[in-house]
Amino acid sequence: MTIPAGEPDYHRIIELPKIMDPRGNLTFVEGGRHIPFAIRRAFWIYDVPGGETRGGHAYRRNREIIIAVSGSFDVEVDTGKSVISHHLNRSYYGLYLPPLHWRSLVNFSTNSLCLVLTSEVYDEADYLRGYEEFRGERGA
Ligand code: TYD
Repeated sequence: MTIPAGEPDYHRIIELPKIMDPRGNLTFVEGGRHIPFAIRRAFWIYDVPGGETRGGHAYRRNREIIIAVSGSFDVEVDTGKSVISHHLNRSYYGLYLPPLHWRSLVNFSTNSLCLVLTSEVYDEADYLRGYEEFRGERGA
């Protein structure tokens, strides 16, 4: 797995800054400070019909932070050795995923909004879309 020096090679929940305010709460994120990479892209997933799954792939180089900005969903993370499910339901938690982590996003609640911050711009060649190919790269 090729990860820049200093970045973790394991998936984990990162707690983001939270400014509590009677007028409404605020959370922010700065690339390289609250998360371990500079942010090069953001995309979001919304209007997910009940029972649908997103993801179902890994990346060779791209790293991500996944945030349930609204509602909730589960991210099932497969390292090739074990599968761990993270339930995301707070907008001040981000799930960090290094490269070579197979992810599936499931159990979207109604009106949920999934924000993804990434270390790389979109590149289809960076995707591992075949599970056996993923396991091969992982050496699993
Ligand atoms: P994909 O990453 O496969 O979706 P999921 O998050 O469910 O795994 O992307 C779905 C489609 O959208 C695919 O045709 C590629 C396109 N896409 C872009 O053009 N740019 C992007 O930044 C992303 C994330 C996807």
